[in-house]
Amino acid sequence: MFVRLFILADMDNPSKKKKIIIAIDGHSSCGKSTLAKELAKELDYVYVDSGAMYRAVSLYFDEHQISLDSSEMVAEALKNISISFSNVKGINTTFLNGQNVEKEIRSLRISDMVSDVAAISAVRSKLVDEQQKMGKNKGIVMDGRDIGSVVFPQAELKLFVTADVKIRGIRRYEELLEKGFNVSLEEILNNLNKRDHIDSTRDDSPLIQADDAVLLDNSHLTKREQLQKVKDWALELINELN
Ligand code: DC
Repeated sequence: MFVRLFILADMDNPSKKKKIIIAIDGHSSCGKSTLAKELAKELDYVYVDSGAMYRAVSLYFDEHQISLDSSEMVAEALKNISISFSNVKGINTTFLNGQNVEKEIRSLRISDMVSDVAAISAVRSKLVDEQQKMGKNKGIVMDGRDIGSVVFPQAELKLFVTADVKIRGIRRYEELLEKGFNVSLEEILNNLNKRDHIDSTRDDSPLIQADDAVLLDNSHLTKREQLQKVKDWALELINELN
C-alpha cells in the first residue's frame, strides 16, 4: 500500500516526469512569446525567447556601429557578446553582457534592423548553438522562427502560430503603447510586413512550417483558449511518455 501510494505520488510530481521539448514558431507578433511563457509556467518548464537573443545582438551591433556587410566586424563583435536571461520581479528579462536590455530590445529601431541581423549566418550559428545547449535536458519551451526546423528538429511538440496581419498589428500597437513607446499603427504594420518577408525569404533557415508542426491560427482565439488547447496537446504527449 505504502509503495503504491509512493509510486502514484511520484507520477503526479511534474519534476519526476520525462520531459519534452516544445518548439513554437510563426510570424512576427502573433503572441508566440506570451503563449510560450504561459505554457512553460503551467508545465514548470524553462522558457526561452530566442527572438530576444537576435534582438540583443542587434542592439550590440547598433551601439557599436557594426556594419552588417563586414563579416570581419560581425565575427569580432560576436566574440564579445554574452546573452542571458533572468527573472526580474516575475518578468523574464534579457541581459546583454550583464546589462538589463529588456526595454531597449523591444524598440521599433531594433525591430527595424533585427531581421537583417538574423539573416547573417554567423549570427545564427552562434545563437543556434547556445539555444541547443539550453535544451539539452529537455523540459523547455522555446519560441522563434526556426526552432522546430533547425534548433530542435527532434522536438516532441512543434507549433506553427499565425494570425491575420491586421490583428497582429493592432495587438503589437497596443502592447507598445502600454510600454510607453510612441508609435503609429502604420509604422507597426510596415514593420510586420517587412519582417515577415525577410524572415520567410532569407537563405539561411527561413521561417517555414516544419512538416510535423501543428498549424495554429489564433486570429479568433483568446489567449486563454489558445493556452488551454496547447496545454492539452502537451499534456497528452507528456502522459504518453510517462
Ligand atoms: O520573435 P521576435 O519578433 O522578437 O524576433 C525578432 C526577429 O528575430 C524576427 O524578425 C526574426 C528573428 N528570429 C529568427 O530569425 N529566428 C529565431 N529563432 C527568432 C527570431
